Amino acid sequence: MSCLIATSLAVLLGLATFVTSVKDGTEVDQCGYPGLVAVLAPNDAIVCNGILISGTLVVPQICGVGMDEFLKSNDLTLVYGNGTRATIPTGTSGTLTGGLYSYTITNPLGSACNIDATVYNSDSDTLDTSTCEVVGFGSDSLSSKIYDGVVYASTLTKSSSSPCCDVIMNSLTSSQKGVILDSTASFNCLIATGAVCGSGDLGAPVYCNTTSGATVVTGLTSSTPCASSDTFLVHDLTQGATNFKFGY
Ligand SMILES: *[C@@H]1O[C@H](CO)[C@@H](O)[C@H](O)[C@H]1NC(C)=O
Ligand SMILES: *[C@@H]1O[C@H](CO)[C@@H](O)[C@H](O)[C@H]1NC(C)=O
Repeated sequence: MSCLIATSLAVLLGLATFVTSVKDGTEVDQCGYPGLVAVLAPNDAIVCNGILISGTLVVPQICGVGMDEFLKSNDLTLVYGNGTRATIPTGTSGTLTGGLYSYTITNPLGSACNIDATVYNSDSDTLDTSTCEVVGFGSDSLSSKIYDGVVYASTLTKSSSSPCCDVIMNSLTSSQKGVILDSTASFNCLIATGAVCGSGDLGAPVYCNTTSGATVVTGLTSSTPCASSDTFLVHDLTQGATNFKFGY
């Protein structure tokens, strides 16, 4: 997906002089991913991807902490999948719980391609795990954090349920783990064909289709190790569903 080649990181590491290709990410239509949004800094740098559910923006804790810091002295912008913008005003803040940050958005959603996200409910939904993708706005250029409205998706090849992810957590490298601010938070350990690589991809939701044809969210990207087929962590929104496990 975007950033799939972590241009900025690659450049930092001196690993790449050619930095414009997208690695294993596919450009997709945002209409297929209900509730997908991004939070932008004043220069349109992507602070985080996230989802909107019933007027609430939900992003991982690491983004929320960054947002609250920004909001002490700057407005932020929420950009809906279709490009519509809303201001998140200076002086406001959200709520951090269980590894997630929630912020109430007053501007309603409503158009056909800009509807609320639906979170996977393991009691009533059966996932078609072959359809699971990590989806975000990160781009593949030197300006990899600058919002350009283009959405990329990369197919998941492996998922460990959150109980299994807890078990393998200790064997992960620090870049695979990212920054965990709340040790009670619940994660899935995932692998995609592409890679998530920095703030342009932070918060990128994982979408799967259910066998009945709905598109649901199972988690939000919280680590960005930036190498294809590397393990990354996603804040688990499946309530610890043990059947969200495949590929291992
Ligand atoms: C985008 O979505 C918003 C909120 O649903 C809506 O008000 C706006 O008309 C839409 N814009 C386009 C270009 O579809
Ligand atoms: C998920 O379902 C939607 C709607 O039926 C479909 O357009 C989309 O291609 C499916 N996604 C995948 C990855 O198969």
